Amino acid sequence: MEISSLSKLLLFLSAALLLSSLASAADPDPVDDLCIADLTKGKTINGYPCKPEWAVCSDDFFSSILSTGGDTDNPNGSNATSGDVTAFPGINTLGVSMNRVDFAPGGVNPPHVHPRASEIGLVVRGKLLLGIMSTKNVLYSKVLKAGENFVIPRGLMHFQYNVGEGKATQIVAFNSQSPGIVFAPETLFGSMPEIPTKVLTKAFRVDEEIVDLIKSEFGNCDACFS
Ligand code: GLV
Ligand code: MN
Repeated sequence: MEISSLSKLLLFLSAALLLSSLASAADPDPVDDLCIADLTKGKTINGYPCKPEWAVCSDDFFSSILSTGGDTDNPNGSNATSGDVTAFPGINTLGVSMNRVDFAPGGVNPPHVHPRASEIGLVVRGKLLLGIMSTKNVLYSKVLKAGENFVIPRGLMHFQYNVGEGKATQIVAFNSQSPGIVFAPETLFGSMPEIPTKVLTKAFRVDEEIVDLIKSEFGNCDACFS
């Protein structure tokens, strides 16, 4: 092979490698055995600084944060307990985390996305309707009972709704120490400063009063009574 064809091939292969690594990028790989987050130091560009190794102890690798569920007595009838790096410093740099979500009967974990992680989960109690929406607006859904699990591709909108008679609980895991969560209702109707009502009336094809009413549900009342 000529030198110029060889260098073109190499250029092509390195570009392909770069693109494939960007497309599959989750959290960066750890570069050390241990890097327990020192939350007192604040976040650096990508995670938290490590505690010095002499200060690391057994407790840094264990957490009881998900052993009890949060209060579901709220308008959603659900409560997510986050086990991200801020709650469990031991996962710093490891690219994993877990949440627990508890549901009262009829409770909903509203439509949301995780910008930085795929999610895998297990229903441990009750019966949940789980819905996942693709970017082509296809809804994939199923009623899951205790012992059944599910997966949600990174960035896709999804929800869970308790369709059982009693309480329900799910445990989920992410391939990020900080998956992030964007709840559609809060983001659109409860952002601060608020999204102009005219934008939302046009986008949702409804009257201003309806947008203002929904905004008021999310404590965004500036526009409601002016
Ligand atoms: C459930 O979908 C969760 O993100 O906690
Ligand atoms: Mn989720």
